[in-house]
Amino acid sequence: MDKKIKTGLVGFGCVGQALYEIINAESLPFDVSRICVKNPGKARSLSEENFTYRYEELVNDPEIEVIVELIDDSEAAFKMVKQGLVAGKKVVTANKKMVAEHLEELMALKENGGKLWYEAAVCGGIPIVMTMDQFYNYEPIQEISGIFNGSSNFILTKIEQEGLDYHQALALAQKLGFAESNPLLDVGGYDTMNKLVILLCHAYGITTTPSSLSTIGIQHIASNDLDFARQRGLKIKLIAKAVRNNNLVHAYVMPCFVDANQDLGHVNNEFNAVLIKGKYTDEHLFTGKGAGGAPTAASVIADIYATIGKPDYDYYKWHDNREITYSNKVSLPVYLRYNHSAELNEFGFEHIWSEGRYKNGGFVVGEISLDNLWSLNAYIEQKGIVVVAASLLENPQRLFATKDQQTVAV
Ligand SMILES: NC(=O)c1ccc[n+]([C@@H]2O[C@H](COP(=O)([O-])OP(=O)(O)OC[C@H]3O[C@@H](n4cnc5c(N)ncnc54)[C@H](OP(=O)(O)O)[C@@H]3O)[C@@H](O)[C@H]2O)c1
Repeated sequence: MDKKIKTGLVGFGCVGQALYEIINAESLPFDVSRICVKNPGKARSLSEENFTYRYEELVNDPEIEVIVELIDDSEAAFKMVKQGLVAGKKVVTANKKMVAEHLEELMALKENGGKLWYEAAVCGGIPIVMTMDQFYNYEPIQEISGIFNGSSNFILTKIEQEGLDYHQALALAQKLGFAESNPLLDVGGYDTMNKLVILLCHAYGITTTPSSLSTIGIQHIASNDLDFARQRGLKIKLIAKAVRNNNLVHAYVMPCFVDANQDLGHVNNEFNAVLIKGKYTDEHLFTGKGAGGAPTAASVIADIYATIGKPDYDYYKWHDNREITYSNKVSLPVYLRYNHSAELNEFGFEHIWSEGRYKNGGFVVGEISLDNLWSLNAYIEQKGIVVVAASLLENPQRLFATKDQQTVAV
């Protein structure tokens, strides 16, 4: 390529620095003319003249063709991306929260001539957004299930394989740069939820707000729950799931039991996976590093290259969708661990198949509607209740309590 693409970078943290280093190490044809950051006085690996604290210097520079937004503040990011699109710039972002919360508005803003790519926003280094948008554009997607958050998967793996406690595992994830600045975004399932919202648009043509998806995190999972899974040859993973049933799509983010021998059971540490079942293609499994500076920056680089002459997303299913809608009206088999038996009264279980006691509290295995769980999201979080869905297991009876758990069949 003769001409270098003039690029304005916003954010010089974990991903921004990795991007800058790869561009230089590989002599890529991108000229990062200015880097906009927030905090003056912060020690940087580059000299001060590379930086600005005024985003306007990038967006108003007619020479800058591509704005690469890599900051950790979704509200500020939305304003910047919006300004960039309105100014007719090509914009690349990794900010899933911002994209998920403003997807329809962002699509509308592109009418002004700006273009937007966000491959790195979903599962870091796995090329799933463009694949979903282009390869699967005509394919009816029956099911998506995946591990979309590297930090939570890393934490669950370290607890399970190395016996670290939750706080040690979280601190290690933060040290290695896998965790968001606010760890609740990862462990509470919200980061996964944002990514699922983005995929729902490309896979089914559904735009929904992140807060309408039932989202339960891993932050209260304890050794009781992991032992329960281990005794049955299972693991617990934070799963994003969408299932199409005629013209309804049921979607949620929840810890789920997976068979240790199942595809998703082999996905450990910061790795992510997306398992797609299409009507004609059947199953495709994509795995790769879903977090970390370099893998995420690699997706950003693919997007910067895409800005050269290639169109951005088609949103084919979104433009074509007349019928498919999102619904929480479905029943799920779940394991629910409570701390006080009175807490169970809040839940409208349709069936309880099995229950058992722990030293503190107990658990039930039964069937409950997603609607009911969604309405109790805040209660579940506040009380530290653990819910693990069994919807990825062929036979949820594997979860029934064993004799040593003092089963009381109901
Ligand atoms: N880390 C990952 O593995 C990963 C994976 C996939 C996607 N992402 C996404 O990539 C984005 C960046 O993540 P990160 O991990 O690189 O974040 P980070 O390490 O926390 O760095 C954030 C950077 O943004 C800058 N910044 C924050 N607010 C700003 C503002 N208002 N104006 C200008 N600069 C601002 C900060 O400036 P200062 O340097 O001055 O503080 C810092 O350089 C996020 O949207 C994240 O969700 C990250």
